[in-house]
Amino acid sequence: MPPALDRLDRDVVRAWLTEGDGAALDALWRRADEVRRARVGDVVHLRGLVEITNFCARQCAYCGIAACAGPLPRYRMTHDEILVCARQGRDFGFGTIVLQGGEDPGLSGPFVAGVVRAIKAETGAAITLSLGERSEADLRAWREAGADRYLLRFETTDAALYKRIHPDLPGTVSDRIGQLLRMRDMGYEIGTGVMVGVPGQTWDTLANDIWTFRDYDMDMIGIGPYLADPRTPLAGTLGAELAAPPSEQVPNDELTTLKAVALTRLVCPDTNIPSTTALSILDPSAGRANGLCRGANVVMPNLTPPEYRVLYQIYPGKAAVHETADVLADKVIALVGGLGRTTGSGPGGRRGRD
Ligand code: 5AD
Repeated sequence: MPPALDRLDRDVVRAWLTEGDGAALDALWRRADEVRRARVGDVVHLRGLVEITNFCARQCAYCGIAACAGPLPRYRMTHDEILVCARQGRDFGFGTIVLQGGEDPGLSGPFVAGVVRAIKAETGAAITLSLGERSEADLRAWREAGADRYLLRFETTDAALYKRIHPDLPGTVSDRIGQLLRMRDMGYEIGTGVMVGVPGQTWDTLANDIWTFRDYDMDMIGIGPYLADPRTPLAGTLGAELAAPPSEQVPNDELTTLKAVALTRLVCPDTNIPSTTALSILDPSAGRANGLCRGANVVMPNLTPPEYRVLYQIYPGKAAVHETADVLADKVIALVGGLGRTTGSGPGGRRGRD
């Protein structure tokens, strides 16, 4: 018998992560869906994602656009190109625009502030930034320019593993969490997350990761499967070296990812949780819907122009690189309707829900 779901602690989360009984898992899925409905409702918030630069100074061992991932044509979108995408998002009814990119020193603080101001003025959308670790001055300037939220996954709470998969990051995982908390003090809603099944990630680590979301009361939590990219060190000898013994190593599969999403909903009942793109790649026919039915309440349709999207493959097969933004948006809206849910039109922030 698995432990009761109404008294969660780290050990209970750990036990549920390895649960294999179908009837027990059905109870987990039901509970996650009920808590999702009771606490954040049936509205699915759509965030239009614009991948504004694939330059990256970092060498994260899993990432297909890392500086170490081999030769890759690099792009940085112009102010006007980004604005075209943001207007498209507004026209589709998306209440949030997400500007994401590699950690790009060529992306200046004032440039991003100018883009944020222009998007706010023209669309009124909420703005989420996801541009890596940046200086305090940049983060403050972007908040003053109108940015509402910041996404920065901590990736793993295992300090040694964090160092191995981020060989050139200056700080520790605690420093990264510290940066998130400073952003919260600046007035951002803060988002974080982890990949499921990174070589070296054990069941204890993943349970600890999920409990850490709760410790810091994260506003947004993205959880997707790790997808090995053959261009990266983690897909090769580094991954083989880091892998935990089979009984301890978390697999990078859909079932485990869905368990992590459902348990995160239970320990952080009113947070915003996306059904991630990586999940939809692992299971193109049902991954997105499965996430939405097991705790998630957000989807991030891609607005990046296809010619840039093909160059922003942080992992292989990144969804639908040849479909235009309007096709993607229509599909997502149809998917949400098909689940009997509605799409949100407001900003969909955690504070002042609408
Ligand atoms: N597989 C899955 N997710 C990945 N990310 C980066 N590389 C991969 C990969 N190979 C995730 C990281 C990062 C987010 C933007 O994408 O968690 O924070």
